[in-house]
Amino acid sequence: MGGITYDYMERYIRDLIPENNDFLKELEEYATEYNVPIIQKEGAQFLKTIVAIKKPKKVLELGTAIGYSALTIYQSNKCKITTIDRSADMVAKARENIEKAGAKEDINVIEGDVLEVVKGLDEKFDLIFMDAGKGHYNHLLDDILRLLSEDGVIVADNVLFRGMVANDDLVIRRKITIVKRMRAYLEMINEREELVTSIIPMGDGIALTTRRK
Ligand SMILES: C[S@@+](CC[C@H](N)C(=O)[O-])C[C@H]1O[C@@H](n2cnc3c(N)ncnc32)[C@H](O)[C@@H]1O
Repeated sequence: MGGITYDYMERYIRDLIPENNDFLKELEEYATEYNVPIIQKEGAQFLKTIVAIKKPKKVLELGTAIGYSALTIYQSNKCKITTIDRSADMVAKARENIEKAGAKEDINVIEGDVLEVVKGLDEKFDLIFMDAGKGHYNHLLDDILRLLSEDGVIVADNVLFRGMVANDDLVIRRKITIVKRMRAYLEMINEREELVTSIIPMGDGIALTTRRK
């Protein structure tokens, strides 16, 4: 159990989710073999659902890894995706996968630290998926809101961080800063008048945020 939900519940939900196509399955196998942290199955399904509702034209993703979540979004809804990762190895692998998937023209992978790269962006995105810089979601929020289209949505992953964010007894000492900052992020998105948020205890915890109309 990841400190968020029950094993039997996760297993049941996962078993209901249809298998991905062969290409995404290959990426899942690669991630398992090389220990690359990609979004959990139910999180990917949540993203697909949001994408089916929103039909975003432009997506910003923080944290590319091997391109799995970007390609999951893309295959659900062909759109323009900008995705950022600071690891040169991950960026190279993601670009290779994106090319193999025939999505090179639509998915732009930027190598760099999300904290710096988002500052230099100046366009609007209908969906922003936060999956990198977990100790900095609170610092990223103002830039993310600047980049979010009027009726755009933010999906932030890992917000309950193995349960530690909700329960001091679970906190590992060396993770205390991430936990404090993640709590700050959750407080900010809940307290700001202009925003409405739902925190979902799924996977490692997902926060879904949009602007109040
Ligand atoms: C959880 S993985 C992303 C998984 C991917 N979204 C998926 O589900 O397929 C997080 C990625 O963020 C990158 N990362 C972590 N901190 C970062 C930062 N401050 N700036 C840019 N990338 C960062 C790591 O290199 C890693 O590849």
